[in-house]
Amino acid sequence: MVNEPGKTADRGNETGITRRRFILGTIVVAVIGAFGSLLSMLKLLSPSKKGSGYMSTIAPGDVLVYAAGSNIGTEIKASSLNVGDAELVYPKGKSSNPANLVQLIKLNEVDFKKPTDRKLTDKGFLAYSAICTHLGCTVSWVKNPASPDLSYTECFCHNSIFNPARGEIVEGGPAPIPLAQIGVRVNENDTIVFTGTFTGPIGPQV
Ligand code: FES
Repeated sequence: MVNEPGKTADRGNETGITRRRFILGTIVVAVIGAFGSLLSMLKLLSPSKKGSGYMSTIAPGDVLVYAAGSNIGTEIKASSLNVGDAELVYPKGKSSNPANLVQLIKLNEVDFKKPTDRKLTDKGFLAYSAICTHLGCTVSWVKNPASPDLSYTECFCHNSIFNPARGEIVEGGPAPIPLAQIGVRVNENDTIVFTGTFTGPIGPQV
């Protein structure tokens, strides 16, 4: 069968249009892909956003439990800590939220100095966010066995040092602000509960 000249031309045009659409579509997909990659790269290169989404769900009355070690998940007893000791803790039942990670510390009350809020402490216990305000690593406790009251908090990611007796102010390293304090109270049954929420921002602040 012989094709009519007009119909051959139409099919030719259709084929051309289809090819152009395919090429155009390919270019659009490539451009979108490149744009997405560029955004991802910029995201990786840019510093952490302030707070980085750290939203604590700690509420007054939440019981403190161990966040690490062989006792993980069990209620912490006040009598188990001596001056110069510290533990990483979570509010009971809320360990899935990393913003709830807290460092519980026991020191001599006589050593507490501003900006530590004494009203948020009890029997030498005080507590602060355990998320470094630099880039969000978990802080560590550096115990001074010879002088337990001189023990301190350090973030080993970039060596920020915080003074727990003075409201965890920054005494070294790149952390821009102190670790936020949170109130605690010792119950008659020796357990410890939170009495409020964090006094300041938590998580990376750069
Ligand atoms: S993340 Fe803590 S010092 Fe950098």
